[in-house]
Amino acid sequence: MTTEAAIYPDLRGRSVCVTGAARGLGLALAEAYARAGCHVLLMDIDGDELGWVGPELAAERPGQVIATAMAPVSDEDAVTKALTGFAARTGGLSVMVANAGVSANAPSLDLGLDRWNTALDVNLTGVFVCARAAARVMREGDGGVVLTTSSMYGVTAGPERAAYCATKAGVAALTKVLAVEWAPHGIRVNALAPGYVETELVARLAEDGRLDTEALRRRTPRGSLGRPEDIAHLALFLSSGVSANITGQVLVSDGGWTADGYAVTRS
Ligand SMILES: NC(=O)c1ccc[n+]([C@@H]2O[C@H](COP(=O)([O-])OP(=O)(O)OC[C@H]3O[C@@H](n4cnc5c(N)ncnc54)[C@H](O)[C@@H]3O)[C@@H](O)[C@H]2O)c1
Repeated sequence: MTTEAAIYPDLRGRSVCVTGAARGLGLALAEAYARAGCHVLLMDIDGDELGWVGPELAAERPGQVIATAMAPVSDEDAVTKALTGFAARTGGLSVMVANAGVSANAPSLDLGLDRWNTALDVNLTGVFVCARAAARVMREGDGGVVLTTSSMYGVTAGPERAAYCATKAGVAALTKVLAVEWAPHGIRVNALAPGYVETELVARLAEDGRLDTEALRRRTPRGSLGRPEDIAHLALFLSSGVSANITGQVLVSDGGWTADGYAVTRS
């Protein structure tokens, strides 16, 4: 038995959709739900990546449905079609992780409106569309769990991150609104708010000299970046019945970054 299945036995057999699941955090989340015994729908716009990560995840899981769907998260028709098809195949939908997101880092004076609009479209509209499409399926069943992906940059700020911070703060606010509205339907809504996580993207940026991970480590009270599995465990906890009383919250997993207003560079 995997660790995930042992800690969260109630997740076994549940149907879960993760968006932005072709790589990075989304893929780590999809893998963790699969290890917990869930049926998983991986949604992304990158059909090439989905084409190999889907079958790889499905291998040696004969009793589980591991499906992929190529759909842009803000395309309501495409998202709804993929979700309803998956729910019909697996007997419902228990969890939606609206994870897909893009960054648009640039000095605010130079940030092109095309990049601003893309960030809004994916990070905010996409989360709303996916959350609502999922909730429409969940309210026909026994309710469920919607997880949005905000960021520590949804609760604090950094330079050259106008679109990113604005959309992630928007996600935090949206999460609270939806949690309050959908509680009577038995749907809980919480936001994952990661700090810097050692994903392939972060590693690539560091390799290219565009991100100084050593400086980030020194800036973090805990002295290390997060790991994808830290966020995956948070998601599984919030998806399980053990967190039944938690809704409308933004859960920050950042090694103490946002708590530290002093933030002198540590040696
Ligand atoms: N990696 C971090 O350190 C970190 C920290 C805080 C928050 N986050 C958030 O976590 C989420 C995942 O981040 P990541 O680092 O894994 O990113 P990533 O760039 O590695 O992966 C994002 C995935 O989303 C997909 N995607 C992009 N636009 C899409 C669209 N319109 N529709 C469907 N899929 C789309 C991409 O194809 C990609 O597979 C994002 O919301 C990000 O803002 C990441």
